[in-house]
Amino acid sequence: MRYGTRPGRKTPDPAWKNGQNLMVLDDTLLRAPYIIDVWTAGRRKKRMASERCAPNVNPLTDSLGRSLFRLKRLVQPVAKRALFWPGIGPVLLSMIKRSPMRNISVMWSVTYKCPCRCAHCGVNDVKDRSKVELSTDECYALLDDFAAHPFAISEIFLFGGEPLVRRDIIDIIKRSTSLKLRVVVDTNGWLVDEAMADRLAEAGLEEARVSLDSPRKEDHDRNRGLAGCYDQAIRAARLLHDRGVRADLSTFCTVDRMERGDIAAIKEIARENGLDGVRVLPIFKSGALADEDPLTPEDEQMVYSLLEPGFTYYELHVVDNPKSKFICSTMLKMLFAVSPYGDVQPCAFCPASFGNIREEPFNDILERMWANPIYDHDCHTCLMNQPATPEWLDSLSADGDVRKNPVLLRHSCRR
Ligand SMILES: C[S@@+](CC[C@H](N)C(=O)[O-])C[C@H]1O[C@@H](n2cnc3c(N)ncnc32)[C@H](O)[C@@H]1O
Ligand code: SF4
Ligand code: SF4
Repeated sequence: MRYGTRPGRKTPDPAWKNGQNLMVLDDTLLRAPYIIDVWTAGRRKKRMASERCAPNVNPLTDSLGRSLFRLKRLVQPVAKRALFWPGIGPVLLSMIKRSPMRNISVMWSVTYKCPCRCAHCGVNDVKDRSKVELSTDECYALLDDFAAHPFAISEIFLFGGEPLVRRDIIDIIKRSTSLKLRVVVDTNGWLVDEAMADRLAEAGLEEARVSLDSPRKEDHDRNRGLAGCYDQAIRAARLLHDRGVRADLSTFCTVDRMERGDIAAIKEIARENGLDGVRVLPIFKSGALADEDPLTPEDEQMVYSLLEPGFTYYELHVVDNPKSKFICSTMLKMLFAVSPYGDVQPCAFCPASFGNIREEPFNDILERMWANPIYDHDCHTCLMNQPATPEWLDSLSADGDVRKNPVLLRHSCRR
């Protein structure tokens, strides 16, 4: 059993298939023995370096892990629902936000390059041709820092741009999995043929979220600005699924799309192709969708009616439960982002840098960022969809001392 991530490639626990960005309590329990093990050793970095390829399992913590895993199965359903109980929920959420045992994910845009030209994409706003993307060695050093972080960084979402454009992406995945980091990729699927699917699966990729904007081929291809993108997305998801990588279709959700029946049709497509599920994304007010109105609570009722436990989940919900509330992992300090240039951001959709890993130790930046008042909000809605965020972003300057104030990452460079 690996404690750095979920046990096994294909988990037997269907709870993983639900709102999986917020494995608050279950995963913390799973990681506990691993963390204790590392802390008692006292020198996590050294230990990680020496065990990078062949982690040893301490029999004491292994047995503790097994017990906690059993306990987790009993406690998890109640604990997740308790997050929404009046009185108890807010206390639990604030405890999680402060807990050194909480589970942290990194949304890492490894490149802004991409063969698509999606109408809704915000990458053009942050792409800067004058900057150089992180080299392979810089990526490795960053991964080592993730693994050595005193909190439990356990999961990496490879994001972009199109992450699979990077020539060293397989090496980055291999390095991540050898450091016990669980790897998930967000992809348009364009570069996944049989050979690439083999390499991704062999490297230890656990999950792929393949974007599908519409159940209609012509609409998807038009929106993505790339003929053949629809067929390739389905093919990529099937190839990965066939090799044991969890493969979901991923689609963002507007009222128009729901009313047209697009989300329901995408669920059908996922079923017909034997895929693992469908991820429904809300609209984040970012990039080309910055002026879109986010879904209202009434609109969200429509989304809930489309969810199916274990198959169709709404991003960031703790459970596929119509009564659950939206919880943003960023606001819980359980998620942060790194740009291809090394900027540390609250989320990849938030164009604010709190520092650059080329200039400062990653942990110092993270601590500074998490001390910022934007995290003081008790509401756990999407940072990008909070009414005060546009004004906060407008107040930031594109230059200045990032150690004092976050820097705005906005450019007008077109690809
Ligand atoms: C930014 S892309 C990066 C990975 C990859 N290139 C892809 O298209 O899947 C990740 C996903 O975010 C979605 N997305 C982009 N901007 C969005 C926004 N403002 N709100 C919600 N989803 C968005 C995209 O449609 C895509 O499915
Ligand atoms: S494929 Fe992904 S990164 Fe590329 S333009 Fe579309 S949404 Fe943006
Ligand atoms: S800030 Fe918004 S886009 Fe970012 S993780 Fe939270 S909900 Fe998602």
